Amino acid sequence: MFSEKDRQFAADFLERVAKKVSIMAPQIGGNFPYTTNGEWHPKGENADISSWTNAFWPGMLWLMYIKTGDEMYKKFANECEDKLDRALDEFWGLHHDVGFMWSLSAVANYKLTENDRSRDRALHAATLLAGRFNPAAKFIRAWNYGTTYTNSAIIDCMMNLPLLTWAEKYSKEPDPRYSHIARAHADTVLRTFIRPDGSVHHIIAYDRDTGDVVDRIGGQGYDPDSSWSRGQAWAIYGYAMAYLNLGDERYLDAAKKVAHYFIANLEPGKLPLMDFRAPQEPVYYDSSAASTAVCGLIEIAKAVPEFEKPMYERAAMNLLRVLDENCNYDENELVLLENGSGAYHAETSIHRPFIFGDYYLLESLMKLHGNDGRFTIHN
Ligand code: GLY
Repeated sequence: MFSEKDRQFAADFLERVAKKVSIMAPQIGGNFPYTTNGEWHPKGENADISSWTNAFWPGMLWLMYIKTGDEMYKKFANECEDKLDRALDEFWGLHHDVGFMWSLSAVANYKLTENDRSRDRALHAATLLAGRFNPAAKFIRAWNYGTTYTNSAIIDCMMNLPLLTWAEKYSKEPDPRYSHIARAHADTVLRTFIRPDGSVHHIIAYDRDTGDVVDRIGGQGYDPDSSWSRGQAWAIYGYAMAYLNLGDERYLDAAKKVAHYFIANLEPGKLPLMDFRAPQEPVYYDSSAASTAVCGLIEIAKAVPEFEKPMYERAAMNLLRVLDENCNYDENELVLLENGSGAYHAETSIHRPFIFGDYYLLESLMKLHGNDGRFTIHN
């Protein structure tokens, strides 16, 4: 169990974060910030309404609504969710990250308000996600373009599976096809992404008829065989949720194995490097890898027996203390968590504030604050 001192730290940290979000909320309203420093999605006529990041802000609004009961948060979250209907209508822009997009908007809304419109949107998105499954090769394809990319899965997709397991329960009749697909994809990732040492690949391309691995692709890390830390964090939290939602001990073991590798690569008092296997210079950190990993570590700590808990709890608390040092509490700046990194080879994306880093920071603090599952809107 987290100590009283840890819980008090987390409670105080949550108050600092919530105060900053309460200042940001009226300025951002029902829009989609990509970073929290004023680079908005959508941008006018050329809006990318299908961006994978579009529900992190409504997700934060729902967490703030749970915490405060303030109707302002609910109003803005509903505005975002209404706007996302255009992504469903346009259809062609959508990809596997419909899981992020509708879990944190419509599913969160439905969990709190039980309104049919949100349930139906989330079921619609889940149906699109299920439709991306390749039944011969047994993976959910990530994107829609390019020969390699249409036959690829990415580690991030572990975070999209909770939409499927949610849909199984909330279809008009319980529909096990959703969890069959989630389980098949999680098994393919287990077999092909997780290396013996606990590190993970970012992107794998498959033969679309046999499921044989045909290529490993670098993605956002240093190279195909490196170790992009946000990818490791997606695996930690994704497999922790797969265990919670599908009940297979192998998924908890996978979450633990990747977590052990992640923890072993942390330097005391520092954010995780954005890639654990890159040249020593330049030094790039990623705060969003830290906040996502904390969510996963908290779930692992809850799932394991008593004497296993302290290692995961200690790692989560150490990361939270570093995250606190990386928060911008200046009330005049529209930025919360600093020093996120987007892609290793895109210099302009290094050490920036990202809305997904903010989201997982707030979610992790809410988990510690409530510790009863009610605050976990991601599963
Ligand atoms: N591929 C989404 C991410 O940046 O984690």
